[in-house]
Amino acid sequence: MGAYTMRSDKLLVPVMALVTGVAVLAQGPTYKLGRTPTEKEIRAWDTAIGQEGKELPQGQGAATQGATIFAQRCAMCHGQNGAGGAAPALVADEEAGEEALRRLPFATTIFSYISRSMPLQQEGSLSAEEVYAVTAFLLYRNGIIQESDVLDAESLPKIHMPNRGKWSLPPLSQWKPGELGPDPFLIDP
Ligand code: HEC
Repeated sequence: MGAYTMRSDKLLVPVMALVTGVAVLAQGPTYKLGRTPTEKEIRAWDTAIGQEGKELPQGQGAATQGATIFAQRCAMCHGQNGAGGAAPALVADEEAGEEALRRLPFATTIFSYISRSMPLQQEGSLSAEEVYAVTAFLLYRNGIIQESDVLDAESLPKIHMPNRGKWSLPPLSQWKPGELGPDPFLIDP
């Protein structure tokens, strides 16, 4: 706001609105709801990890440790072997036509999702090492890596998922601001 000097009452209303936290001035332009987040808030929320894995944390883990974590923290919802529980199957089952995590084009997505959203209702309770380990376990059980492979910020983005290169997004020209984004689809399922 800088060096404001209040010469007229007109200024007082928006200034009070800011002070009391009523976000009159900073409403989002599209939906007229809420307020625009500050840069600091965006940085704190921006925990997603992209396909190149640049945002991956330090640490490492392998499937053997991951198996223990999975049994203790995940199996009650996802099933003992990563399938057959109340929550979605995580391990592919070719006979049942269930691709599970094999459908994803990037292994970093699995790390990113688990680290932000799992275990459900205890989100954020796993250390980076535990997320690497349980990601390794799931990739091993999906037949994508070896049991002894160690995952870290360097090796995880290099994993070649079977569906890499088979995903596409409809052209952005089909999208208008304010609409939901188009769903990605498999080119060659
Ligand atoms: C309390 C039940 C519960 C627990 C415990 C739990 N999950 Fe989940 N998980 C879910 C549900 C429900 C979904 C589906 C969420 C959705 O689609 O919005 C899910 C989704 C996922 C997905 C995405 C699946 C996909 O196909 O996109 C992954 C990966 C995952 N969980 C991994 C884990 C791991 C690893 C653990 C243990 C560290 C864990 N979950 C613990 C309930 C649970």
